[in-house]
Amino acid sequence: MARMGGKCCCKKTPTTDVYKKPDSALRAELQKITEALTAPGKGILAADESPVSLTKRFQDLNLENNETLRRDYRLMLFSAEKNQISQYISGVILHNETVYQKASSDTEFPEFLRKRNIIPGIKVDKGLVEMFGSDNETTTQGLDDLLERCIDYKKKGCHFAKWRCTFRITDTLPSRQAIEENSNILARYASICQSARLVPIVEPEVLTTGGHSLARSQQVHEEIFSALYRAMILHHVFIEGTILKPSMILPGVENGDSCSPQLIAEATLTTLMRTVPCAVPAVTFLSGGQSDEASTINLNAINSFKGKKPWTLTFCYGRALQMSALKIWNGDSSRVKDAQAEFLRRAKACSSAALGKYNEEGIDCGEIAPCKITA
Ligand code: 13P
Repeated sequence: MARMGGKCCCKKTPTTDVYKKPDSALRAELQKITEALTAPGKGILAADESPVSLTKRFQDLNLENNETLRRDYRLMLFSAEKNQISQYISGVILHNETVYQKASSDTEFPEFLRKRNIIPGIKVDKGLVEMFGSDNETTTQGLDDLLERCIDYKKKGCHFAKWRCTFRITDTLPSRQAIEENSNILARYASICQSARLVPIVEPEVLTTGGHSLARSQQVHEEIFSALYRAMILHHVFIEGTILKPSMILPGVENGDSCSPQLIAEATLTTLMRTVPCAVPAVTFLSGGQSDEASTINLNAINSFKGKKPWTLTFCYGRALQMSALKIWNGDSSRVKDAQAEFLRRAKACSSAALGKYNEEGIDCGEIAPCKITA
């Protein structure tokens, strides 16, 4: 032991915690929300597209992108037959605009969803910005007033939140700068959300643009997840009260290799096993870069894969749940019922895949079917 002038110079190890962390009531509340969101066979509908992101989707259908039509579109989805929608969908991520819109003359959307046994959630990030000093990589803004906004959203009835950071793969990217910066931001976001009694969905999306292989995608995901959970621990995030929303491990869209759902499942689960703590209750995948069918078959393959799986593995899909219904609806109130039937068909398929039972319903997933990735 080092001594100075006969006295011990070692610092005393503190016997009490020196940082704030969620008390037991808050921990219990966060875990209860997480459990409800990831109940067996249920997943989350991501309907938090910003008005700007909806522009292209509406334009492709010659629809005017205005506030009324965006409200009507969300109402079409959320008012699908109550018993069925709540059997497959546990929660819906809303955009700020939708939180303040009304489903009917006296009911705002969060309350409307709650009455249908669906938990309202909220996208709280304020979008991607380029990181100066990087090779066109991005970070995500919105931390400055996040606590105040989270407190307001909780009062409006939201119980969980989402924040998305993105990474691009090339031979040299993502850079260490992007990985460290975005991991830190996701961890800060998560700790702020938890302090306001919202469960944070942590979304480090690796884009499928590019020609990278499945192996390169796996390597990048491993580096990102390990940095992410180191940052989460550093920020004293209560891991049991969080949800991870990653991409599946896929080759880039310009890569010629074909991968079976089983290969994708193996790469995805190997990556998660190596880097994601088993204290994380659930992993809810995004669907970007995959066709509707591929996102369902691959989720099914992940859930039917033999091997250790300490988390609930389900969906938090935007495009793969909505796009086919949006096309049928096309802004026409006479088509609402048909569009809702299509939305429920997709939700049911994803729910079966979350249980690893999609292929038990007479749909041939094919043992060696190549993965179908779309731009
Ligand atoms: P996709 O399922 O369309 O990828 O979107 C989910 C989402 O919320 C992206 O942030």
